[in-house]
Amino acid sequence: MVPTDRQDATHAQLVLEMLLESGSDFASGEALSGKLGLSRTAVWKVVNALRDRGYAIEAVPSRGYRLIRVPDRLTALEILPLLETHDLGRTVHAFDSLGSTSEHAFRLAAEGAEHGELVVAEQQTAGRGRRGRSWASPPGKNLYASLVLRPELPPQRAPELTLLAAVAVAEALRGDGVVASIKWPNDLQVGGKKIAGILTELSAEADRVHFVVLGIGVNLNAAPSDFPAEVAETATSVQRVLGRRVNRAAFLVRLLRTLEEWLDLHEQLGFEPVRARWRALSSTLGEEVLVKAERRELRGRAEDIDVDGALLLRTEGGLERVLAGDVEQVRSRIRR
Ligand code: BTN
Repeated sequence: MVPTDRQDATHAQLVLEMLLESGSDFASGEALSGKLGLSRTAVWKVVNALRDRGYAIEAVPSRGYRLIRVPDRLTALEILPLLETHDLGRTVHAFDSLGSTSEHAFRLAAEGAEHGELVVAEQQTAGRGRRGRSWASPPGKNLYASLVLRPELPPQRAPELTLLAAVAVAEALRGDGVVASIKWPNDLQVGGKKIAGILTELSAEADRVHFVVLGIGVNLNAAPSDFPAEVAETATSVQRVLGRRVNRAAFLVRLLRTLEEWLDLHEQLGFEPVRARWRALSSTLGEEVLVKAERRELRGRAEDIDVDGALLLRTEGGLERVLAGDVEQVRSRIRR
């Protein structure tokens, strides 16, 4: 029987899984062919197909195969063998280039895509940021990912997911040694510079969320010269902070696992644990800030976030609740 493309992809994934499991040891050709139900020659062909896709695989007679290097690329082949989630990222839509992963995910969701389907791209030509801004998306360096979520939530509670995602991204970055903090509501910063951003888009009716598209951009391996000049000033990346490159697929699967753990907790216990963790990771609370909201500017001390994620601001006129806006820290001028 002639193998289909789908079978080839599954075989490649299974071989990769076994090689990854073996770590620095060899996986024997016999074990691989037994697990896959393929002849030794067919296994050899799968290994060669993987090499053509940029995997460095050592082959030693009578010992077997060993994975030496994986390519830094984001497709199902790189993502699925590492994935530890039950839903998130189990279906991957990967592209070399897209206008926006969120725009694409929104279309897929409207056509019926399931909870957890993931859209990733090597670059975006029209990356979208919050409040109508654009998101600089140079090719091959960073993470541009959008997830279709189908939470059982009334629309008023959807903003909780934005704060939840910020917590998950901050924890994934911290897991790599990058001490990122959250600027309300969901900017991820290191040393006052932006390292990641989250865009939540919603399709809902009065009492029910149809779906949420969670768009996450993380500056992983970009150098300042990869960004437009105005962004280079205000942005940083994991590579800049740590002084070394990170494997984007490995980062993504850790992020998906963390995100799924928080989503599960949120489903079981509600927003309170997310709120507590958000507070601990926030750089906004306790600071004197200027909040630029839709039709007004407010200045005051960021006291807390409310039970629904709104910012509670102590102004001269009293306590204000801010649902959406941009926060700027007011420098020491005001505190001294
Ligand atoms: C922000 O302004 O901070 C939010 C930025 C969100 C960027 C991500 S990149 C992946 C996804 N696709 C988009 O077009 N935007 C989001």
